[in-house]
Amino acid sequence: MTLSNDPNSTSTSKPKISLYRRYPKLEKIPRVSIIQYPTPVEKLKKINDLLDGTNIWIKRDDLTNSHYGGNKPRKFEFAFAQALKKKKTRILTVGGIGTNHGLACAIHSPKFGLKTSLFFINQPLTHLVRDNLLCDHHFGAKLYFTKNTLGTIWKLLSKLISNRSSYYLGVGASNPFGTIGFVNAGLELADQINAGLLPEPDKIFVALGSMGMAVGLAIGIGLAGLKTKIVGVAVSAETYNSNKKIMKLAKQTIRILRKADPSILDVSTRIFDRLIVDRSFFGGEYGRWTKDGIEAMKKFNTDECQLEPVYTAKAFSALLAYCQENPKVKTENILYWHSRSSVDLTKIPLQVDYHDLPLSFHKFFDGTIPLDENLEIIKRIP
Ligand SMILES: Cc1ncc(COP(=O)(O)O)c(C=O)c1O
Repeated sequence: MTLSNDPNSTSTSKPKISLYRRYPKLEKIPRVSIIQYPTPVEKLKKINDLLDGTNIWIKRDDLTNSHYGGNKPRKFEFAFAQALKKKKTRILTVGGIGTNHGLACAIHSPKFGLKTSLFFINQPLTHLVRDNLLCDHHFGAKLYFTKNTLGTIWKLLSKLISNRSSYYLGVGASNPFGTIGFVNAGLELADQINAGLLPEPDKIFVALGSMGMAVGLAIGIGLAGLKTKIVGVAVSAETYNSNKKIMKLAKQTIRILRKADPSILDVSTRIFDRLIVDRSFFGGEYGRWTKDGIEAMKKFNTDECQLEPVYTAKAFSALLAYCQENPKVKTENILYWHSRSSVDLTKIPLQVDYHDLPLSFHKFFDGTIPLDENLEIIKRIP
């Protein structure tokens, strides 16, 4: 039997993930294999030069999987395992019309015999949103959009009730099981620090949407005993990621871990010692591109790191503002967590005719709804 760390290979024997190495009793919590562990950490040389000697590092979660990377596969490893444990055959999930989460789900679920249905809510229309919709269709997801959010939720509920073999996966896969994927990510980072691959970061900047990434990381970092602070840069409204919701998700996640291994510390009670939420880069509406984000993309998108406007450009803008405002920044180590996929899917939308999507989606393509005004600016970014 060959040892392989490539989840797309057929090998059955894989090195243990950091979570299981540190807490062997947690192997009781089911998991499927999607990630190429560990994702690399690198120093952002060009960006540090541009910023005149900062120490910014990147965690390359864009490389979590060679079919579609980014932060979602980490959550799917634990969330899909729950669906399979419950003998479900279809994932029902929800997101904005441009959701990366939904697309990631459509791409990864078939490997485990699962189908995907996506229930959409509105967001500003851009060419990236259109491309994701066309890709969702290409990868076989069933797509649902009704005239308002309430209608979409109603549709989702009726499908859940009528099809008992469906598994509801909440927005962004940030249920407590999905969040465990990022507890593991925090421990994986700690292992990389212990191995001397990077210094312990003073701060980690991450985008904060449905919370699973930031909350899981804060727990993982806490369990590893690191002093690092996570800056969760909000990309959606506070109703989706209020402090109360953050605390609730942290508690639920820790409860699952402690049920399997009671020796695990309850770090959820002090989650805000490690997680700082910054809401100043949000832009007022989920999916709206910001001036700061566009500037960051224009200036810093290189072969080292490609930001996109909805999540990563906002997290990176917060990081840049921190560098500009903090006189001691050159003595600190900062980690930027790169949560988008870098797999190139740009050819796929060219193969899909939007007329093949359900009728309720045609208005996003036929000019009925104008593209977001920032589009032309972004198109010119190298
Ligand atoms: C590229 C990217 N970064 C960050 C996030 C936010 O992560 P979370 O929803 O876990 O807060 C998302 C969520 O969809 C995403 O697609």
